[in-house]
Amino acid sequence: MDTTAIYPGTFDPLTNGHSDLVQRAAQLFERVIVAVATNPGKAPCFSADERIELARIALNGIDNIEVCGFNQLLVEFAREHQASVIVRGLRAVSDFEYEFQLAGMNRKLAADIETLFLMPSEKYAYLSSSLVREVAALGGDVSEFVHPEIKTALCHKMR
Ligand code: COA
Repeated sequence: MDTTAIYPGTFDPLTNGHSDLVQRAAQLFERVIVAVATNPGKAPCFSADERIELARIALNGIDNIEVCGFNQLLVEFAREHQASVIVRGLRAVSDFEYEFQLAGMNRKLAADIETLFLMPSEKYAYLSSSLVREVAALGGDVSEFVHPEIKTALCHKMR
């Protein structure tokens, strides 16, 4: 069966931890849509177009994925794209409560769409987009955490 999975997030910006998760999902599913929330509750540092473009650059080379923006209920976006699985990452126990709420609400809204949790590599367990932005803003080296073009974009943005 051809299964499409959605990996949603704000991706402000996409980190190597996110890429690690996309690679894992791409091995499990025929098609993975990386869904960039264009109007999330957060006030993103990068515009929607920038976040989408940077994600496309960083994930270039993984054949069965596509990067799209979305600005609606996640489950509606999933239905429109015939996706039956939502993939989310669990880095640590601290992620669990929020993810539990998100998955529970999505199940309430669309019982036929499953949420699947994947663990990124341990080396990315501490990584988050906001920490990467903070390190970059204070002049720290983020090369280990993001794609080189995202590092350049961060440097420009923080200047
Ligand atoms: N590696 C590194 N960092 C990771 C990660 C990984 N594998 N997985 C998550 N993170 C980090 C992110 O960088 C982010 O860090 P930050 O808070 O410091 O920026 C944090 O974990 C969580 O962000 P993310 O995974 O991008 O999720 P989100 O909470 O920003 O996204 C949506 C939430 C967009 C999926 C959710 O709000 C949504 O579905 N919105 C659509 C509207 C909707 O349907 N709402 C009802 C939902 S029930």
